[in-house]
Amino acid sequence: MAQEAARGQWHSRLGFVLAAAGSAVGLGNIWKFPYITGESGGGFFVLIYLACVLLVGLPIMTAEIILGRAAQRSPVGAFRTLSRRGSPWVATGWLGVVAAFVILSYYSVVAGWALHYTWLSISGALAGMSTEQVGETFGAVYSSPRLNLLWHAVFMAITIGVVWAGVQRGIERWARVLMPAMFLALLAMLVYGVQLPGFGRALDFVFGAHSEKLTAASILEALGHSFFTLSLGMGAMLTYGSYFEREGDAVKASIAIGVLDSVVALLACMVLFPITFSHGMEPAAGPGLVFKGVPMALGELPGGQLLSSVFFLLLVFAALTSAISLLEVATAYFIDERGWPRRRAALLTGLTIAVLGVPSALSGSSELFGAGMEAAVGRNFFDLFDYLASNWMLPLGGMLTALFVGYRLDRALREEEFMRGTTLGKLYRSWLGLLRYAVPVGMAFVFLNALGVL
Ligand code: PHE
Repeated sequence: MAQEAARGQWHSRLGFVLAAAGSAVGLGNIWKFPYITGESGGGFFVLIYLACVLLVGLPIMTAEIILGRAAQRSPVGAFRTLSRRGSPWVATGWLGVVAAFVILSYYSVVAGWALHYTWLSISGALAGMSTEQVGETFGAVYSSPRLNLLWHAVFMAITIGVVWAGVQRGIERWARVLMPAMFLALLAMLVYGVQLPGFGRALDFVFGAHSEKLTAASILEALGHSFFTLSLGMGAMLTYGSYFEREGDAVKASIAIGVLDSVVALLACMVLFPITFSHGMEPAAGPGLVFKGVPMALGELPGGQLLSSVFFLLLVFAALTSAISLLEVATAYFIDERGWPRRRAALLTGLTIAVLGVPSALSGSSELFGAGMEAAVGRNFFDLFDYLASNWMLPLGGMLTALFVGYRLDRALREEEFMRGTTLGKLYRSWLGLLRYAVPVGMAFVFLNALGVL
């Protein structure tokens, strides 16, 4: 179809899976998952997280992909096309576009830290640091307005450049290079981790059943994180699905993406926890875990400089393929709904997001967006955006998507779209059951928790 060609389409099915897995695998897997696992005490948390991915995440992933594939539109247009005129469901699409702006604005700040650490590693500045120095270095980065703004701007510029180049020549081409590179780097790090004295303890920590620290809050954290890590609830998978060929297998693709995403999250733990345990660091070190742990472990090792450079570069790659998908949601809206040329859409939305990220970049230094705001409302700007997105926007978007597909979408169309191109058609009933019952119930818990009822 001419219209499809004009919108852009993946060159191949593998290209789609790599791009979508690139969206899913990101800072959420390598930066966030290990530290929340550490804070929640390991084993049981991991198990619950995997259950959430399987029972809540994957059904929504398939739902999003088939919505995009059926409508050949990004979120706002997709909900408009598939529901009645003036239908309130279109708000779900809007929510996604807004979430893209919010998430990318602070995501880019953390990606900026990864860029800065890549630079520090390559230049040798991290070599031979003591535990204190490593901690001070992270503190200095966190509280420097100049470094935060600089790297945030650099990262946004790279992201804009890729989205500017288009679906095949930008997004897919980069995912094809960055994803395998990231995977290899992670495996190289694992080879190093396996040899550390703390490896056995790390294995036990991540896969052993330790229930002591598990609280209701950490169960909900696992559920919330399964949305973030799979890029669900804001139309990223829907948008990527809209570039998927009509006969592509959405069910198998969802499973492949989910497996890749979880494998990377677990690998990241198996790289980081041996380091923390071998160096007497607490697994519950919080957001600084990656940024303190890796330099500490590698600073003293022969070849450590190379390994830590590789590690932080891997973090940048993972963040980049996710950031691209966030910017693509915002960009696709202006292309599909406002008829803008791609380049203008990518540039203007990207610049707007870069500006929106300034308060987050200054959260560690400015009184207004940082300490002062924290004293006044309990969260600095960065934390507020992360909280709004992870605890409200994504779960809400995911639940609305599940309800839309589960109850509102034309029955025949739903079944036909699920079956199209897949050999796993026998999963249809279970999928529908999960969308209709498991997802809304799980989500209701997330909201009650966010409201402080639980
Ligand atoms: N899934 C990405 C990660 O784990 C983050 C993301 C969320 C990307 C929502 C796109 C949409 O880092």
